Formats: sequence, structure tokens, C-alpha cells
Amino acid sequence: MSATDLSLCQLLDPKVLANPYPLYQRLREQDPVHWDPFLHAWVVTRYPDVITVLHKYTADRTPTPEQLSAMGCSSLNPIAQVMVKQMLFMDGAAHTRLRTLAAAAFSTRRVEAMRAHIQEIAHRLIDGFASKERVELISEFAEPLPAIVTAELLGVPVADYPQLKDWSATFAEMLGNFQHNPDRAPRVLQAVEEMTLYFRAAIRELKKTPREGLIQSLLTAEVNGERLTEEEVIANSIVTMVGGQETTTNLIGNGMLTLLRHPESLAELRDNPALIQPAVEELLRFESPSQHTARLAPADVVLGGQTNQEEAGRDRGDGGGQSRSGAFSRS
Ligand code: HEM
Repeated sequence: MSATDLSLCQLLDPKVLANPYPLYQRLREQDPVHWDPFLHAWVVTRYPDVITVLHKYTADRTPTPEQLSAMGCSSLNPIAQVMVKQMLFMDGAAHTRLRTLAAAAFSTRRVEAMRAHIQEIAHRLIDGFASKERVELISEFAEPLPAIVTAELLGVPVADYPQLKDWSATFAEMLGNFQHNPDRAPRVLQAVEEMTLYFRAAIRELKKTPREGLIQSLLTAEVNGERLTEEEVIANSIVTMVGGQETTTNLIGNGMLTLLRHPESLAELRDNPALIQPAVEELLRFESPSQHTARLAPADVVLGGQTNQEEAGRDRGDGGGQSRSGAFSRS
């Protein structure tokens, strides 16, 4: 077996990406805890191991500005400065603090009020299709729906949604990708700078004229005397904006494609629209918009019979140390 046979770098090939499941199956069967020398990470594919990684390993995995500088990549520091303040990359008390403060914006009352409003937005977009023979699902529905909802959720002008969409796509390309592409870095840097300026201006505006939304909630939330700093509000507005858009767009796109490929399931859903909730759950599982994530293993761990130090150390030519674990599963 060559080193590339099981490497996730094959996902860069559009044909493999279009149907990655045979690759995942080979990984699960042949080497469920696999050292990928191209990713410099362990790829973990069996459900119980994935659960162990998600529960026990650290989410604090984004490089700090200091680490980037030490690697000679200080030009990327403005991105790292934002990411280290995002809840996605935190554990324990630091994570709980941010989640608790952010949760104020997702109260049951707010979410219920938004549910009806999201339906209205979806209906409005679909009403626009009535007079058309053809509709481009992604650009005319799957992208604008979460972008409009996100603008409203954040409490920024809805007219800004194409801009939010654009920044989100740029930032997500880096967040959701295990491949660093130096050619794209200037665009990500520019997006981070623009988003930071945008949310700073939005905060200034909200301080003058308060308006309901996530940014306002993050600005004013107080738990045990704790408040978020302006930089934390900006960083977590960015992660929420990005987190809510690409995932939802791709769930709609993947979901529709899957239904078209399974006409009997589409017919069943059309006959019984009450099935929509379990159908969405199943589509999330079956053709997930989020197929991998990463955690850092503590220095000495054994997982699925593999010791992270040995293999990673051999590959780097040193004695071992912390290594990344990509955890993903489709069971
Ligand atoms: C189909 C829809 C969605 C999918 C598949 C999805 C997927 C995920 C996954 C897998 C994670 C965990 C990543 C990790 O820990 O490694 C995550 C975290 C997160 N998502 Fe989503 N997401 C979706 C929708 C949304 C929406 C609508 C929002 C915002 C309104 C959002 C905001 C976030 C945030 C802020 C986090 C970080 C949470 C934390 O660290 O505590 N996501 N999402």
C-alpha cells in the first residue's frame, strides 16, 4: 500500500470529493487510526474512536500569533488574532464562559420567534420562483436564505447580506479546509480586516442605537459580573456568521441532490411533508455538509492501538510530541 492510498489529500481530486465514501470505508477497514504523512495528522474514522477524540482531546488547535511568527508565517497573524478568541477553538472554562454569554442570544423565545420569520424568508424566496422555468438552487435559495437569516440574527442591515456571504465563503474556505493554500491567504487576510472593521462599526452603531440581535446580546451579556471584550464580540460574531452560512447552504444543496438521486424518498416526503424533520436529520447524517474536524491529542495517547508519538515522530524525524487528530465519521 503506498502512502497516498489512504491519504485525505485525495479529496483534492474532484472525482474523489464527489464520492469520498469508498475512501472513508477503506480507512475504517484498513487503518482506522491512520497517520497521514501529507496532512501531518492522524485520521480517525471509527465511531467510538471519534467520540473519544471529541470528548477527550483539546479543541484549542488554532495556532497562536506567537507560534505563527516562530514558523516564519507572521503575515498570517491578523487571522490568528481573531481565531484564538473564537469559541470554536476553546476548551473548558474559557469555552463555557463564551458559550454562556452567547447563549443569551439563543433563548427559546428568540429561536421560536426566528423560526416563523425564517419560514417567511424562505417562502418569499420561493414565491419568486413561480414565474420562472428554471431556478439555480444554490445561488437563488441555498445561499441567500442563511445569509439573510444571519444578518437578522446578528442585527446588522439585511441589505449587507451579499457582503456577509462573500466574507463567509472566503473565511470558511480556510476554516473547513485541511489544505493551506498560500495563494489564497491575501484574500483571507483582507476579509478578516474588512470583517473586523465592519463589526467594529456595527458595535459603535449599536452603542448609540441599540437593536436586537446577537451582537447586541454579546455586547451586553453579563454572567457572574463577566462581560466580553469588543475583540471577543467581533471574533465570535465572525465565527457565528461563517458557521451558520456555509453549513446551511451545503445542507440544502447536498440534501436536494440526495433526494433527486433517491426519487422514492423524495416522493415519500412529498406525500407526507410531516416527515421533513427526520428527513433533514437523515440528510445531515447521510451527506453531511461538515465532514471533518480536528483536535489536538495530548502528548501521550493510545487510540485504536496506535500511539500518537511514535508515528508522528518518525515522520517528523524527532521523538514525537503533540499531534493533530482529524476526527470524522460516517457511520
Ligand atoms: C447544517 C447546519 C450546521 C452544521 C452541519 C454545523 C456544524 C457544526 C459543527 C460540526 C460544529 C463543531 C465543530 C468542532 O467542534 O470541531 C459547529 C460548531 C459551531 N457552529 Fe455550527 N453547524 C450548523 C449550523 C450553524 C448555525 C446556523 C450557526 C449560527 C447561527 C452555527 C454556529 C456555530 C458555532 C458558533 C460553533 C462553535 C460552537 C462552540 O465551539 O461551542 N452553526 N457547527
